[in-house]
Amino acid sequence: MNSKQQKAQAISSSMEIPGRKMEFEFELDDIPKYWYGDDVFKSTFMNALSCLFPEGERMFMDAVRDHQHKISDPQLLQQIKGFIKQEAIHGHEHAQYNDFLKKWNYPIDKIMSFEKKEKIWMKKWLPRKHRLAITCALEHFTAIMAHQILTNPESTEGMHPQFKEMWRWHAVEETEHKAVAYDVYQQAVGSYWLRVITMINITVLFCLRTSIIQAIFLWKDGQLFNPKVWWKGFQFYFLKPGLVPTIFRDYLDYFRRDFHPWDHDNRELLGKWEEEQQKYKIV
Ligand SMILES: [Fe+2]
Ligand SMILES: [Fe+2]
Repeated sequence: MNSKQQKAQAISSSMEIPGRKMEFEFELDDIPKYWYGDDVFKSTFMNALSCLFPEGERMFMDAVRDHQHKISDPQLLQQIKGFIKQEAIHGHEHAQYNDFLKKWNYPIDKIMSFEKKEKIWMKKWLPRKHRLAITCALEHFTAIMAHQILTNPESTEGMHPQFKEMWRWHAVEETEHKAVAYDVYQQAVGSYWLRVITMINITVLFCLRTSIIQAIFLWKDGQLFNPKVWWKGFQFYFLKPGLVPTIFRDYLDYFRRDFHPWDHDNRELLGKWEEEQQKYKIV
């Protein structure tokens, strides 16, 4: 282990991962359909992401739990508990958010049922180390997107305050636990090639999956072939906030052999958020 890896590992071991029960008290009736800056593309994009969370996060919990018996480090075992609590609460809050989307005649039940079937299929047919590698890849995606949400004001500009609060909370917890699945993978599996090949596959599938769900929403809204919407989408991805260029370097870090999620030490964001919050209890 080189000194950079030792430093990242030390940060990782020191992380406390609390389960927070949030009290958002959504006033869903007051939230407009295009809650993200009155922008059709950005609102449907975030809604599509939200649809992936409940089943996706359940899959992450299963994959980590299935390797727990190979872990002897008491600190990591404690962090696994925190990780599972946090992902369970995220799934619950996003399921409520997704229910709200039904109001706009989006086929949320069909999407959720497809996601559920896929999760059952994966559990049945994919070896558990592959499911853990998928978890690590998707946790890296969520961590680098979370960093943008917490640091780039353009990435949350125009969001409805209630949803902004929810996305920021999720981003904080994704940052807190960004290394848990990775540390479990390193101790229980360790293969570099499985990790990076899985990342390549998951990049394609994740982008495709999000785009398909978003396209369903746009189609339902009669906006799928509206060039103005796609121009806004181009701006969102490449210009403002420029999601692709802003996360691309962090994304590539994952392919380094000595990568660790805490190479990128952004703990100061967590303290900042904690100071602003009082609306939760630790569970
Ligand atoms: Fe999460
Ligand atoms: Fe996560």
